[in-house]
Amino acid sequence: MNHIFFLLLLSLNSSLALDNGLGLTPPMGWLSWQRYRCTIDCVNHPQECISENLITRQANLMKTEGYLDAGYNYVGIDDCWSESQRDENQRLVPSKERFPRGMKYIADFIQERGLKFGLYGDFGTHTCEGYPGSLNYMEIDATTFAEWGVDYVKVDGCNVDASLMDEGYPKFGEYFNKTGRPMMYSCSWPFYLDLAGISPNWESIIENCNIWRNYYDIQDSWGSVESIMNYFGDNSKRLATYAGPGHWNDPDMLVIGNFGLSYDQSKAQMAVWSILAAPLLMSNDLGNIKLEMKELLLNKDVIAINQDSLGRAGYRPLKKSQISAWKREVSPIISNRTSLAVAFVNHNDNGTPRFGNFTFEELEIDTSEPFNGYEIQDLLPSSTQKYTVYQTDGRYRFEVLVNPTGVLMLKLTAK
Ligand code: GLA
Repeated sequence: MNHIFFLLLLSLNSSLALDNGLGLTPPMGWLSWQRYRCTIDCVNHPQECISENLITRQANLMKTEGYLDAGYNYVGIDDCWSESQRDENQRLVPSKERFPRGMKYIADFIQERGLKFGLYGDFGTHTCEGYPGSLNYMEIDATTFAEWGVDYVKVDGCNVDASLMDEGYPKFGEYFNKTGRPMMYSCSWPFYLDLAGISPNWESIIENCNIWRNYYDIQDSWGSVESIMNYFGDNSKRLATYAGPGHWNDPDMLVIGNFGLSYDQSKAQMAVWSILAAPLLMSNDLGNIKLEMKELLLNKDVIAINQDSLGRAGYRPLKKSQISAWKREVSPIISNRTSLAVAFVNHNDNGTPRFGNFTFEELEIDTSEPFNGYEIQDLLPSSTQKYTVYQTDGRYRFEVLVNPTGVLMLKLTAK
């Protein structure tokens, strides 16, 4: 009983900050931007334009194709959904041509399927694509979003002086809270501060946002995914300390299922994003996706790492001979020893799978006695990859063989 009470207190405490109780594990869902951008020409691109048709289609697929059951529950519209002017009451207006029945209709459609509705806004005068932004209209916009039934807001930071953000983002969050409707709050605040050379006030960011962007936009290419991995790897010990239940770093959307990543590269994105405890926000066409990519996105074991209840974000203990090693503490904890998810990404792209050799010390895996070892499971097996664990000179080691620009991902369950 006492234990339960204590646990309750702990989880209350971690969600108090924003006072919305959301995002106790990283959010999962679908977001329009990376794949569909600012496509507004529905005459020439009827299937791709940001419209009622696109969003309701993807929402249906989220449910019928098993994504909702796997945990992906947000469906988000990114930039370019509105008219270019506010109405006479200063309220934002959805594009009349592309969202003829308005946003409440979209929210209802999404929520009737057991999903949640995400919508984009911008803290500046205009969004990144030039649509009306919320500067000077934060209260009206928060109220409008709540009336429409929004469950998740992404607040971008284009077209505004970054020095206003330390005050503005928390203020906008307060207006959202005041509506009484819990809305996941996704901020771009720290990234824009970084760009402006202002050092982020992490305490305030953690307290005010459920997730936040740290780095540049993802593109549909391995180069882009890898540059994000490098950034998060180079800063991972520090960044991991900011993450926890209710507040997570956001390395940007999953591009799996699009044009740019091979199957191995897709596995690598899924593995590293899960170890980083990143939001899993797909941006793809759920109606046109290769089976292997779909199965990867739906992989229960990898999703379980991402959603692990301990809520501890992982990091990159080291990168050696072009293999980066990633590690996250996960449940179960057995005899005081925490289980682990470990991933090895091979950054070398010339030809054949590559061997790597890592001591447990290098991976910062504690083997002090009593040590009963781990039961090891390969979460993303490949016929051309393998791993062995062995002991020499009293040291435990992993030898791994990893495909070019691919990943070997293991779960080490404490014994
Ligand atoms: C910025 C954001 C992207 C996307 C676009 C929309 O670049 O970082 O994620 O929202 O704006 O214009």
